[in-house]
Amino acid sequence: MARPEVWLPILLFASWANGRTIPSKGQEFQQAQDTGFTEPLIRDLHVGELNFLHTTDTHGWLGSHLTQPNYDADWGDFVSFASRFRENRVGTAGDLVLVDTGDKHDGNGLSDATVPNGLESTKVFNEQDYDLLTLGNHELYTEENTVLEYCSTANSEKFKDAYVSSNVEFITKEGNPVPFGSKYRFFKTKNHNFRILALSFMFNFQRTNPRAKVTPALEALKQDWFQDVISKYPAESVDVLVVFGHMPITDPENREINQVHRHLRKIYPKTIIQYFGGHSHIRDFAVFDKQSTGLQSGRFSETVGFLSIANVKSSEPSFSRQYLDFSKKSFAYHSRVSQSNLVTEKGSKISNHLSKLREDLSLNEVVGYVPDTYYMDTKPLQSKHNIYHLLASEVLPRLRSQHTDDTKSRFIIINTGAIRYDLYKGNFTKDSEYIVSPFPNDWNYIEVPLSLAEGVADYLNKGPVLLRSLAPPSALRHTLRHTRPKSCPFIHDPERSKGYTTLDDGGCEGDDVPHNTEIYYDIPNVVQSVELKPGIQDTAHLVFYSFIQRDVVRALNALNEQKAIVRHHYSEKDCRQYGGHATKDLLKEWIRDL
Ligand SMILES: *[C@@H]1O[C@H](CO)[C@@H](O)[C@H](O)[C@H]1NC(C)=O
Ligand SMILES: [Zn+2]
Ligand SMILES: [Zn+2]
Repeated sequence: MARPEVWLPILLFASWANGRTIPSKGQEFQQAQDTGFTEPLIRDLHVGELNFLHTTDTHGWLGSHLTQPNYDADWGDFVSFASRFRENRVGTAGDLVLVDTGDKHDGNGLSDATVPNGLESTKVFNEQDYDLLTLGNHELYTEENTVLEYCSTANSEKFKDAYVSSNVEFITKEGNPVPFGSKYRFFKTKNHNFRILALSFMFNFQRTNPRAKVTPALEALKQDWFQDVISKYPAESVDVLVVFGHMPITDPENREINQVHRHLRKIYPKTIIQYFGGHSHIRDFAVFDKQSTGLQSGRFSETVGFLSIANVKSSEPSFSRQYLDFSKKSFAYHSRVSQSNLVTEKGSKISNHLSKLREDLSLNEVVGYVPDTYYMDTKPLQSKHNIYHLLASEVLPRLRSQHTDDTKSRFIIINTGAIRYDLYKGNFTKDSEYIVSPFPNDWNYIEVPLSLAEGVADYLNKGPVLLRSLAPPSALRHTLRHTRPKSCPFIHDPERSKGYTTLDDGGCEGDDVPHNTEIYYDIPNVVQSVELKPGIQDTAHLVFYSFIQRDVVRALNALNEQKAIVRHHYSEKDCRQYGGHATKDLLKEWIRDL
């Protein structure tokens, strides 16, 4: 199938002479090793008539990535950037719209060390002057989060127009559903007077707390309020339909966004429809048709997504996208100021406040020193630099039961979702704890024939993605990787920092910084630590997180059926409390004892 033509940034390889180029104004070039061809240190973005800056899935990462120079900007720098960029790059020749698509909690001490979670970080986040913002599923797990989000943001003076949610309702104390913000927003841009109609959809998330309700997007589009919107703003009175929300841009499984698009196209057959998505934590850009594309801008304040549309009023608009590293270098470069001139007064205030907040929440408190870096999925599982390998070989063996002895062979199974981020070399602080492994867990165990116990982890990993919801979000990336047939040229250049080489519908040059390509390995659902006792033994202790108990029991019965080992149907009644410290505490103890 031919892909519609999309205008995308074209790299300028200035001169091939001697393999060296003369940097043009405002551009730095560096020679890539071996290949003899040159590539800029930062690829330029293409400002158009209508421009967007997009963030998503920030998960409390407002204080920058202290252990990763690629992402050394904090929220104050981002606020400075938006204002410098508007001033120096967009000016009056274009318009700039700031968008966020939710998930602002769960991932970093700045949001998670307060009660309720997000109490302070929400105020900091809201310092950015978003034109369009909404919520993610992480604003809907607990009641206190939902109430905080509604009161402090959706219903706030500052954002009461900008906050849009077309398919989520807040349930008041009295039990009445009210829209979570506005159902839609119509506004005109400042310089070109583009008429923008914005809608916002959350993916079909049905595990909300009782104070919220999500209506599937397609259902919401059939409700009366939307019929009213259509008659008030028919196609001829809208220049650009912006559909932003907490929904993946590429969704091979449910194709929810594609269904929304099909529906909207019937009503707005020729209108530009620009999507902004989130939730799957990736950089992504998809072309839906000649007048429609979608952008998704990563996770954890590692990325600011940029999208521009040129020829907005023509029948052939052109789209351009770029993923900016969340760094001072990128921010300064794209706003055409030196790094020392990037920070505005407001930005500097926010950064200072963040430092103080880190102090107040004791996030810098040092637990111990990590001698090496351990990765979730950029080193293979068998590598000694893989965090699951570390857990299985060094950390989990420290588990001691309060209820049984350790004379039996032991299999300890954990789901890989227990880890949320890479563990970096250097000081392990209270903040690192929130970042890497915040989840408490209880251990249960069951005594079973060794020949059954040894098959459980494999079974759970081969099974039909039964623990999907427990897998870390980055596992979604792997599902997606197989949906696009081609791959990007591998950049091997040790001079460059490791990072994203994103393949999307626009090609391979979407990342503003051409990185030394990072390879991602598949992570299984579960990993296990195995301790076999010498001598012949019939049974072993199978130890696992209490919340995967049902899956473990199911696996045991399935294996027993295959192998016919015992005459017994396992049930949850066979499982007992094991006791012992949670994985996160075992990890801390390991670090402390180093
Ligand atoms: C690491 O912690 C020690 C104290 O525990 C401190 O002296 C040192 O400055 C810290 N290093 C960094 C890079 O923060
Ligand atoms: Zn998220
Ligand atoms: Zn999400």
